[in-house]
Amino acid sequence: ATTLRGYADGRGVRIGAAVGDSPLTSDSSYTTVLDREFNSVTAENAMKWDAVEPSRGSFNWAAADRLVAHAAAHNQGVRGHTLVWYAQLPSWLKNGNFSASELNTILKSHIDTEVGRYKGKVYAWDVVNEAFNEDGSMRSSLWQDKLGTGYIANALTWAHAADPNARLYINDYNIEADNAKSDALYALARQLLAQGVPLHGIGFQAHFEVGKLPASMKANLQRFSDLGLEVSVTELDVRIPLPASAAELAQQSTDFKTASENCLGVPRCAGITLWGVTDKYSWVPGTFSGYGAALPYNESYAAKPAYTGLSNGL
Ligand code: XIL
Repeated sequence: ATTLRGYADGRGVRIGAAVGDSPLTSDSSYTTVLDREFNSVTAENAMKWDAVEPSRGSFNWAAADRLVAHAAAHNQGVRGHTLVWYAQLPSWLKNGNFSASELNTILKSHIDTEVGRYKGKVYAWDVVNEAFNEDGSMRSSLWQDKLGTGYIANALTWAHAADPNARLYINDYNIEADNAKSDALYALARQLLAQGVPLHGIGFQAHFEVGKLPASMKANLQRFSDLGLEVSVTELDVRIPLPASAAELAQQSTDFKTASENCLGVPRCAGITLWGVTDKYSWVPGTFSGYGAALPYNESYAAKPAYTGLSNGL
């Protein structure tokens, strides 16, 4: 095997990338690399609530459908992202002042509609995204504040009814280490499993800074795996303060290898998804001021040292 997907196929795991609709539809250098190297895709934005239902009852599936069709044509699986999140909600929903009972109905119908539309075409869903604060308390959100933590079990149950074969995940960031946030998620996961709620996996976003992978990452993923849950790295990138030095690019290569090994070294690791393909379109510079160069391909589609590191970790 000489590609990332070749190595991943050999191990029976996923190697994925988050895909933006704009490069997908306008940049053939991008799709060439995407289709050669990755056996899984995640919509970077196209399946989020604000994208699919910009005004109430009026749906726009165009970009999500494009990605799902592209994946089918290139023998790639699709990770669905994401059904219940505090962010990227349409304003009709955010500012609607709905009662708890109305919100419950709205959420169920959203999950039925979106999961139902892609039934059999999405192998795993990030059902709930970023539900926790850093200290392990529940993050304030439309859902948490109006419905309480029970919205999580309900969302998983509704998603399972809509597609019984999809693997259902809770996804978050800064849970890669053994810390207060991952402890709280671990306690919730145990409780949901004990209650028979259809939770199948935990997604570790893994937005890292170069040289700062948590030492406890593998053991932390292992404890979730020990509950019988799948674990996946869902949004890996390794940001570097710009301009990136040769030493930092070498450390980044090690970090990609270690992150991959930390997941694949755990029995129930389903795979690793990167939050992008190339530095050309990465969300990092727009979000982390002064940082960039976070992915294995540079702006001109040359493989960086991180590409080799990741290959060696697969
Ligand atoms: C980001 C996208 O990359 C950006 O294009 C968008 O403007 C904001 O969202 N955690 C997540 C992802 O779960 O959905 C986020 O994606 C990155 C952080």
